[in-house]
Amino acid sequence: MANVGYEKRGSVAILTMDNPPVNGLGAALRTGIAERVAEAQADPEVEAIVIAGAGRMFSAGADIREFGGEPPAGTPSLNDVISMMEDGDKPVVAAIHGVSAGGGLELALGCHHRIADGATRIGLPEVTLGIIPGAGGTQRLPRLTGAEAALDLITSGRLIPAAKAQAAGIIDAVAEGEVLDAAIAAAEKLAAAGGPPRRAGAVEDRIAPARGNTQLFADFRKGMAKAARGFNAPYVAVDLVEAAANLPLAEGLAKERAAFQELVAATESKALRHVFFAEREVAKIPDVPKDTPVKRIETAGIIGCGTMGGGIAMNFANAGIPVRVLETEPEALQRGLDIVRGNYARTVSRGRLSQEDMDKRLALIEGIGDYEGLADVDVVIEAVFEEMDVKKEVFAALDRACKPGAILATNTSTLDVDEIAAATSRPGSVIGTHFFSPANIMRLMENVRGAESSKETIASTMALSKTIGKVGVLVGVCDGFTGNRMLHQYTREAGFLIEEGALPHQVDKVLYDFGMPMGPFAMGDLAGLDVGWRIRKGKAATRPNHLRYSPIADRICEMGRFGQKTRAGWYLYEEGSRVPVPDPEIEKLVVETSKELGIERREIGEQEIIERCFYPLVNEGAKILEEGLALRASDIDVIWIHGYGFPRYRGGPMFWADSVGLGPIHEAMERFHAEHGEVMAPAPLLARLAGEGKGFGDL
Ligand code: CAA
Repeated sequence: MANVGYEKRGSVAILTMDNPPVNGLGAALRTGIAERVAEAQADPEVEAIVIAGAGRMFSAGADIREFGGEPPAGTPSLNDVISMMEDGDKPVVAAIHGVSAGGGLELALGCHHRIADGATRIGLPEVTLGIIPGAGGTQRLPRLTGAEAALDLITSGRLIPAAKAQAAGIIDAVAEGEVLDAAIAAAEKLAAAGGPPRRAGAVEDRIAPARGNTQLFADFRKGMAKAARGFNAPYVAVDLVEAAANLPLAEGLAKERAAFQELVAATESKALRHVFFAEREVAKIPDVPKDTPVKRIETAGIIGCGTMGGGIAMNFANAGIPVRVLETEPEALQRGLDIVRGNYARTVSRGRLSQEDMDKRLALIEGIGDYEGLADVDVVIEAVFEEMDVKKEVFAALDRACKPGAILATNTSTLDVDEIAAATSRPGSVIGTHFFSPANIMRLMENVRGAESSKETIASTMALSKTIGKVGVLVGVCDGFTGNRMLHQYTREAGFLIEEGALPHQVDKVLYDFGMPMGPFAMGDLAGLDVGWRIRKGKAATRPNHLRYSPIADRICEMGRFGQKTRAGWYLYEEGSRVPVPDPEIEKLVVETSKELGIERREIGEQEIIERCFYPLVNEGAKILEEGLALRASDIDVIWIHGYGFPRYRGGPMFWADSVGLGPIHEAMERFHAEHGEVMAPAPLLARLAGEGKGFGDL
């Protein structure tokens, strides 16, 4: 089998998996391993076996692309391969480097001894794909580590470094030198020692204390409820670790197998697998080839030290990149830097960052007062007041101050990037980098391609997103870009729903239960209601009649209620609390506004709230795709998951729409169009796909 190398060193057979890029354990590789293991077990010269991976890593596990299909007839399952090794009399040693994840770790758990290179990362990330480890991981891992550590690793899906894995009992040693040499030496030693090899499936001492301890598992379920809200797989994983504590290996394995089959066929797993590939697909820009030169970013500049500017600066400091923050008013600069310091201090007080690291990061952030300090930076991100004239002045100044080739980026969320670029003599270097608030936490960066943004600027900005731990998605210029243009549909309809009969907390509850982090009214209070109010007032004179919106939001602002910052908005907030409390005064205002508008209030159900808020949002996504402003429907999904907290287990709004069916969504949009007018007109793309019985995934 060409995909598994076979070499002998003395009495040790070395099996090297070779299936780039990640040694995914697809049918062909599994067959190769099985054949090579059989060969080594039958070879009288071989006394022990080492299994290793060629290339970047040991193995990233099952080939995710194979899920859902039938493996070719006669090919062994991963469980078959693992049993063959575990049950054999010749000791098998795993020589692990790079990554050993999912089935890749389960394969190693089926070996009798595990040695890893110090830089290896190890884990069982299956729950992040909506499944559970399906090749013995839920049964063998807890036997090695005990129940608590296994529960933590399996339900979080986190990859941990080799040293931690050793401390937990998952691997037996961290290699001092070359991992393969260490593994061969260990194999020779085990063969010389003789006796039956140590089988993870037969280890009992660490799991024994959890036997019959239902409380331990009940407490764990309770503890993970917040992080696992809406997900099913982590709960199934807990049940299976509990089974490992209470049942013989064979019974536990059978339960695990059945659970895996059920989960892999469910929508949660389909959605999460879609997101896994969507997150990797965003990096691929058809007209910007992979080999486009990318600028090295060694220093950065930020214009403006407000909430956004400070948050963006933190991303650079967190990635170890020195960053200068320009603010012409010294007090404003100090205020902004104090907020940054406060943010870090909170993370330290929660035990998620060391004081030393906080100091290191703060030392990378330098406040400056003029543009000359930006002469040598590689990238500048402007985050000043959202007004075209102000932005143009900033960009003209940057054009004068910055070195040739520096990327000049604007964090505008509403303004025309091309108009901003035109204020410079180098529009090819100008691009939009739209961060989401809070910018140090939200992972999305909408990278907005101007008409003249060069390929190098685009490629460098996409790479920069990755460097600073963000997910960059390339979009085109339009009002609100992709995310906020769609969001506008959602919030507008939420506003109309309360005019028609719902109450803010009712709408928010339905959307929270759908899986959003909060509903649109609570979100408005968090973001600050005055921002939108100011924008609406600015556009009032030119707004055509058919673009009406509910006046209630403006009335709330006129009452001086701007949301959490004034402790009153759509809701009331107690001192120091972020918990929204429904306010009878607002409910009265809502009911009175309906009356004033001549709208007879009616009962509005859960399903209607979901349809009215999300279908127009999806419809707008279809228009954006047709206009070529987003490259793929899956890019829109990534935007909504990372910028707005759309539930990952629903795959993003476009994937979710496909799972509902575009037929019913199109029908509903036609009805909304008739009832509510032009803004609800179905997108031609939606109509076409629905007519053809297709989904966005077929594009
Ligand atoms: N199956 C299929 N393709 C995979 C894959 C897998 N398990 N893991 C990675 N890939 C692909 C990626 O899609 C990507 O393809 P493109 O270049 O075409 O986009 C390529 O391999 C490289 O991957 P990354 O860009 O993610 O590389 P990275 O170096 O940033 O990360 C990694 C490496 C940490 C291993 C990451 O790829 C990863 O997390 N992979 C998935 C691991 C996982 O979830 N394994 C569990 C699988 S399920 C299982 O094993 C079930 C079971 O119990 C039997």
